[in-house]
Amino acid sequence: MRKIELHDFGMVGLGVMGRNFLLNVLDHHFSVSGLDTNDQQLIDLKNEAKDRKVFVTKDMKAFVLSLKKPRKVMLLVPAGKAVDHVIEALLAFLEKGDIIIDGGNSYYSDTDRRIQRLKGTGITFMGIGVSGGAKGARFGPSIMVGGNKGSYNKVKKILEAVSAKHKGKDCVALLGKASAGNYVKMVHNGIEYAMMQLIAEAYDILQTIGGLSNQEIHQAFNKYNKGKLQSFLIEITSKIFIQKDSFTKEDLIDKILDKAKQKGTGKWTSQNALDVGVSLPSINGSVSMRILSSIKSDREALSKIYKPRLLKQKLSKNSLVKLIGDALYFSFIMVFEQGLYLLAQASKEYRYELDMQKVTSVWRNGCIIRAAILEKIHQAYIHDPSLKHIIEDKSMVKEIKSTHNAIRKVLNLSISTGVPVLTFSASLAYFDAIRTERLPLNLTQAQRDYFGSHGFNRNDMDGAFHAIWE
Ligand code: 6PG
Repeated sequence: MRKIELHDFGMVGLGVMGRNFLLNVLDHHFSVSGLDTNDQQLIDLKNEAKDRKVFVTKDMKAFVLSLKKPRKVMLLVPAGKAVDHVIEALLAFLEKGDIIIDGGNSYYSDTDRRIQRLKGTGITFMGIGVSGGAKGARFGPSIMVGGNKGSYNKVKKILEAVSAKHKGKDCVALLGKASAGNYVKMVHNGIEYAMMQLIAEAYDILQTIGGLSNQEIHQAFNKYNKGKLQSFLIEITSKIFIQKDSFTKEDLIDKILDKAKQKGTGKWTSQNALDVGVSLPSINGSVSMRILSSIKSDREALSKIYKPRLLKQKLSKNSLVKLIGDALYFSFIMVFEQGLYLLAQASKEYRYELDMQKVTSVWRNGCIIRAAILEKIHQAYIHDPSLKHIIEDKSMVKEIKSTHNAIRKVLNLSISTGVPVLTFSASLAYFDAIRTERLPLNLTQAQRDYFGSHGFNRNDMDGAFHAIWE
């Protein structure tokens, strides 16, 4: 009887991400098996794999039995119940020593629950964050792994092979315990939301106040991408402004409805930061702006009542482009400051033992937030592994001091014109607050004690006090 050839790696879920990830694994000379309930997705994988070793099936048992032991099964299925259903179906056939890797944007506490669910079965469950979209999955994603060393060693070789590279270094690492990988991916997405919103506000100012055409905006972002703002999001923004619409042959950007959607990872970041007690005004602002953009009919009605006043500004287009570039750079630093500080605090809260050098290392290529500035930030953690705030690092101090006046000018212009700059202003307000020794919240304490007798501390002696307010 012909011995069935067993395969190195299995994927459940052959949608855009799953199929591209498997093709990437095939490119690195591993044999693969794919499982999906959708016939077309099985056919698509088989066709794209050409004559290479791939087994596709709709049958869970056949899928599991097609894999070499210890079996490595990755899931790229929609986060939530689907993951639990696939796990239960797999458990009927997997054996001691096998490993299940969830590569979707799963909520970190769901991963912790699944790790517990599999305890005692001899089967390992790992949550990993995979960033870079379809192209990243196909040619090199950034991979953020959570779990223990023993489990990671089972899949390290394949994940390192398929990951993006930065200066020859794999953009994959075991970042911390348990659901640390999912948590880091969640915060990656919070940073992604804020960077995208800042770029949207920059576009609004350049167009509404500067009067730049789409072609000129394309040129401006193309120029940004050649300098310190070099990044994936700046690069694609430049290309977006010259993309033609296939229906009208006009600029596609002008045809896209201004209502942003969200699958929720940015929102989770904001929600969890409040639980952990970390202030994320820039990320919170970006989530709020997606929500505000979605109530289009309310905005249309209110725009008839409150017409924005357009201020004739005296700045040349070139000067405005330069100012906006510095404002973006300043604000990107504040966004990374907020996101990385959250990771450091959450690591203590959830006992992840996150390695911040590794976090910033794997973000340097493959992921959506990859940017030249991440090299500087990574070096800051190399210089001081226990760095609490990246804005304390001397290289960041220099960048901030050289750009914070630009954002003040940009905000003056925008606010006096009525162009909404929620995330730009949140980024400057975060900086002005966190670098201020005295904040006016002594008044908040007085008010709380006045109406709620909540007490207060003093700045001239120890202890808790309460006043009898007149
Ligand atoms: C990535 C992206 C990706 C994200 C989509 C949609 O790292 O490749 O962050 O994981 O899910 O971009 O995200 P939203 O619908 O939340 O914008």
